[in-house]
Amino acid sequence: MRKQIVAGNWKMNNDYVDSELFVSKLLKELKHSKAEVIIAPPFTSLLASSNSVKGSRVIVAAQNMHFAENGAYTGEISAAMLQSVGVKTVILGHSERRAYFNETDALLAKKVDTALAHNMRAIFCFGEELEDRKSGNEETIVEGQIKNALFHLPASAWEHIVLAYEPVWAIGTGETASPQQAQDMHAFIRQTIANQYSADLAAEVSILYGGSVKPANAKEIFSKTDVDGGLIGGAALDVEQFTAIINAF
Ligand code: 13P
Repeated sequence: MRKQIVAGNWKMNNDYVDSELFVSKLLKELKHSKAEVIIAPPFTSLLASSNSVKGSRVIVAAQNMHFAENGAYTGEISAAMLQSVGVKTVILGHSERRAYFNETDALLAKKVDTALAHNMRAIFCFGEELEDRKSGNEETIVEGQIKNALFHLPASAWEHIVLAYEPVWAIGTGETASPQQAQDMHAFIRQTIANQYSADLAAEVSILYGGSVKPANAKEIFSKTDVDGGLIGGAALDVEQFTAIINAF
């Protein structure tokens, strides 16, 4: 079901103690809002965070997971391990995973399958690089990323998929896609899904924007028809900024 979501991706920030402080402050400051609130702490804080948010409307997500059920994958974390600490949502395909850990569309398709096989929700990230946008290739790139990792899924799987369009040139750079650029791409993404599945299905998919979302620009970006919320990096590390972005809805 399409809904408004504000998700904070902490990346490799906040140790166990920082995470606990953040969550307790967030729960105090969070007012009623229409948007679903998600935080994605590092693995070492998942158990404590998911215990701390119990009974609140904050949802804890992981930033990554392996596709295999278990086995000889030193340093990796499985879907079942995430579920054993109360985590049912996982971010997959972040551009930093793609760029620094060689995650390909084919690998991500396997991760998505594993998440869905475990009844987890995947927040699937994708987005073009600066040179793609400069050369006018952004739609081709984005379409390919979605198609290669997700179009093998049956229509019924899509209720467990949230999309996050994160243009690489806007991540951590302070340079945001303009609200219109975000809207144009989100409309293109929805149309791409409608072409493959149906307009009804496409209308139900939540598509988040990520890339230098701040309290100052969140309202305008979120006001766009096809933008259903944000995946926030830097500004999600500060409770005041994060709650201001949530309250932008
Ligand atoms: P910034 O908000 O820091 O640009 O990061 C966006 C992001 O990568 C969220 O996943």
